[in-house]
Amino acid sequence: MKPKFTKTTSLGLLFLLACLSSKPIMAQEKNAPIERKWWKEAVVYQIYPRSYKDTDGDGVGDLKGIISKLDYIKSLGIDVVWLNPIYGSPNADNGYDISDYQSIMKEFGTMEDFDALLKGMHERGLKLVMDLVVNHSSDEHKWFEESRKSKDNPYRDYYHWWPAEKGKPAFRPGAFEADGSGWRYDKTTNSYYLHYFNYKQPDLNWENPKLRQEIYAMMNWWLKKGVDGFRMDVIPFISKDTTFPVITQEDLNKNYEERWDVYMASGPHLHEYLQEMNKEVLSKYDVMSLAEGAGMIKSTALNFVDADRKELNMGYHFDGVNLGYVPGYFKKMSPDWSLVEFKKIYSDWDAVYDKKGWGTIYLGNHDQPRMTSRWGNDSPEFREQSSKMLTTFLLSMRGTPYYYNGDEIGMVNAKFDKIDDYRDIETIAEYEKLKIAGGDLKQFIEDQKTGGARDNGRTPFQWNNTTNGGFTNAEPWLKVNKNYKTLNAAAQEKDPNSVLNYFRKMVKLRKNNPVLIYGKYTLLDKDNPNVYAYTRELDNKKMLVLLNFTSKNATVKTKINTTKAKVLITNYSKPAKTTTLRPYEAIIIEL
Ligand code: NOJ
Repeated sequence: MKPKFTKTTSLGLLFLLACLSSKPIMAQEKNAPIERKWWKEAVVYQIYPRSYKDTDGDGVGDLKGIISKLDYIKSLGIDVVWLNPIYGSPNADNGYDISDYQSIMKEFGTMEDFDALLKGMHERGLKLVMDLVVNHSSDEHKWFEESRKSKDNPYRDYYHWWPAEKGKPAFRPGAFEADGSGWRYDKTTNSYYLHYFNYKQPDLNWENPKLRQEIYAMMNWWLKKGVDGFRMDVIPFISKDTTFPVITQEDLNKNYEERWDVYMASGPHLHEYLQEMNKEVLSKYDVMSLAEGAGMIKSTALNFVDADRKELNMGYHFDGVNLGYVPGYFKKMSPDWSLVEFKKIYSDWDAVYDKKGWGTIYLGNHDQPRMTSRWGNDSPEFREQSSKMLTTFLLSMRGTPYYYNGDEIGMVNAKFDKIDDYRDIETIAEYEKLKIAGGDLKQFIEDQKTGGARDNGRTPFQWNNTTNGGFTNAEPWLKVNKNYKTLNAAAQEKDPNSVLNYFRKMVKLRKNNPVLIYGKYTLLDKDNPNVYAYTRELDNKKMLVLLNFTSKNATVKTKINTTKAKVLITNYSKPAKTTTLRPYEAIIIEL
């Protein structure tokens, strides 16, 4: 059944309580108009190729699988697809360890498949953005294989080496290592090499101009092929102080917000390199560039994306997805995370780009648990409503939305019960770390069910109710969520009120209303612990967005007269009649 409340529905006596900010309308659109760009107006759909669709029966998704779903992808209404890495890789970190930047991972197919995919996308008016992983390569890349051979090898300086004669290098973190160290000893040359992630992901030495030129040539090669941009993996980490000084706790406290990632994102030549990359590569094409904003903080974020600086288009911060973790545990989510803080984070980040630059918005990706499990409610009673509510949030905020595959059908965490079911290098390393420390392993597994484990967001796409959700006929590389029989795309296609069709409606609403893209954002009723309320305004158009983030009825507190308002979308079949929003209710009203 179609919701009865569309564009023209008047709310009559509805007085929704929300508080208007006292700030004057400081609209960018009045003083310094926002420059319109296709990548600001785009909705980006992220595909995790490993888990999308297997066509060759090896239990791993592939490029032909994505090709077979292009009509579905187009039907979503999205504009851009970001593909996680598809390059040659031994897969220590599912493709984030690249052994050949100009080839396709064997499990995923061939370069011909890639060309067919790109063509198929362009024919449908879709753009393709590649993942660019150039902070590090694989240790199986030929550069590293050469580099480790001898101290005078021509590729030696493509990586960061520390001769053991100088003693042990100062601590640097290595994210996917049970001992937490970012240095690995290599016997051949009696030296340590740097790896901010796993030892199979040695960090490239950007201080070497030859290396930088190799990377720019490779980027140009892909762009000439026709790809439409890059999402740049941990790009803020590329520049390093190659003296590798000792970093004390005091340094961290004083200069880097007590965060290693902020230190790592503060290399001395970072912006010089990004400007060089812009000049040598990005400026030559009309493409988009996105920084994975690891270590990016509000005070420095504009340096990456202020158009006058000629670096990148946008970045995505981690403040939102880092909220609610219990300190001292590995990504253990507190059930009492605060919506007031959540609202503050997204509002503060919106303000960063109020006059310059451009932001992004996301709640899920391949590094996060499913958004519905984490920020909504994955119980059968509220799963649909809450995932629609989160979709309303993502597609009504300012900034380019990055929407993760599977979220459009409301997929939820897999909640594996045993470590053996996990495949992710990070989860396994953290488990090992805890084991060595004698910690509570059972509790760890429990914590991963709502908290951090990346595999929760990586389980195969649930296409239909056949074997393995229609993802593969073979044994999938990662188990399919048990709920695929009822939660799948095919079932939702048939239901006009499904999560999937709500997503499509919401995409359309955003695309048809520039106010939802460019309009000024104003937070309302900011201390309300249950409801996220805001307005968007542009050129005399004003919209009110109300989102109940709880499983109970919730009120909003200051009156806006909505007598003449039109309900544009709601996730209930009838919109609210009172000041009270029902569980996980979402509503957008044109004022
Ligand atoms: C960020 C990527 O999103 C993540 O999946 C990867 O493990 C690390 N960077 C290392 O490349």
